[in-house]
Amino acid sequence: MSAHNHSGHGHGHGHDGTELDWEAMATHLEANGELQLPVLRQAAAHLAELVGPRKQARRILDIGSGPGVMTCVLAEAFADAEAVAVDGAPGLLHRALARAEQLGLGDRVTVRHAELPEGLNSSGGHGQDGLGTADLVWSSKAVHHLGDQQSILNALAGVLRPGGVLAVAEGGLPMRFLPRDIGIGRPGLQARLDAVQEDWFTDMRAELPGSTAVVEDWPAMLTAAGLTDVGSFTALLDLPAPLDAPARDFLLAQLTRLREMASDALDAEDCETLDVLLDPEDTRGILRRPDVFLLWATTVFTGVRPAH
Ligand SMILES: C[S@@+](CC[C@H](N)C(=O)[O-])C[C@H]1O[C@@H](n2cnc3c(N)ncnc32)[C@H](O)[C@@H]1O
Repeated sequence: MSAHNHSGHGHGHGHDGTELDWEAMATHLEANGELQLPVLRQAAAHLAELVGPRKQARRILDIGSGPGVMTCVLAEAFADAEAVAVDGAPGLLHRALARAEQLGLGDRVTVRHAELPEGLNSSGGHGQDGLGTADLVWSSKAVHHLGDQQSILNALAGVLRPGGVLAVAEGGLPMRFLPRDIGIGRPGLQARLDAVQEDWFTDMRAELPGSTAVVEDWPAMLTAAGLTDVGSFTALLDLPAPLDAPARDFLLAQLTRLREMASDALDAEDCETLDVLLDPEDTRGILRRPDVFLLWATTVFTGVRPAH
């Protein structure tokens, strides 16, 4: 899907199909995270290099953690830290806890149910009033689900301890998994699907409570949040053809969602092509065709809270 890669549900906003049901997306979100593990581990190693020379990470927040795949990766990368999965969907937090237990990280991974932005209003301590402070705050594909992205970044920067790092994964490139010409329908289907998703994304953002337009210049936004040493890095998921079964299952789920999202926006020929791709029995389908690959770039923007 697009760089924004929607999966998802509901905080009561949205009509016209932009409302998201995160709990219903649990399995898909976890599969997404597992597929992205090489990228997440690379990002965590990069963050360890960024945080390490400045301070010892004792407490990490994963904001909009979903099922906690990255929360666990961060707990592994920062062996002395408590990693807290923060999310508005309790079912996903249960998954995060189960995952942590399974990986032997149960003593250092905790969860906090919080509906944002309200849940961020910190009293400064570790009480139920807020999320407490942290040495590293990670947030992937969650900030764009909140109406006022700059004010969320300001609040996230505000929970950082001096010298702490905020990292937001909000950029990159839409995933590519099919050649331009797949031998069915008009070539260039994937570019047209990207365009549909961009429009969906714009509608989704417009319908969020408190939706506020902002130029999505993430380094500038982090700077405006009072952070220094602002920068970015990009990690690439590169799974060549032939793809294994879990990756194909993930793409089938992805295409299924796209088919629902795009049916009004695509012409009849593209809808028929999608039906062929979704057919598990068809050798031209996503589960069986030999040419399916996965290329997907994730960009992480970082900034540091000044020590003084
Ligand atoms: C696209 S998923 C990203 C999950 C994970 N961080 C990842 O990168 O795969 C967005 C997550 O943000 C959470 N979320 C969205 N809006 C929220 C809100 N207003 N308050 C709390 N969590 C929210 C959802 O429940 C979901 O788990």
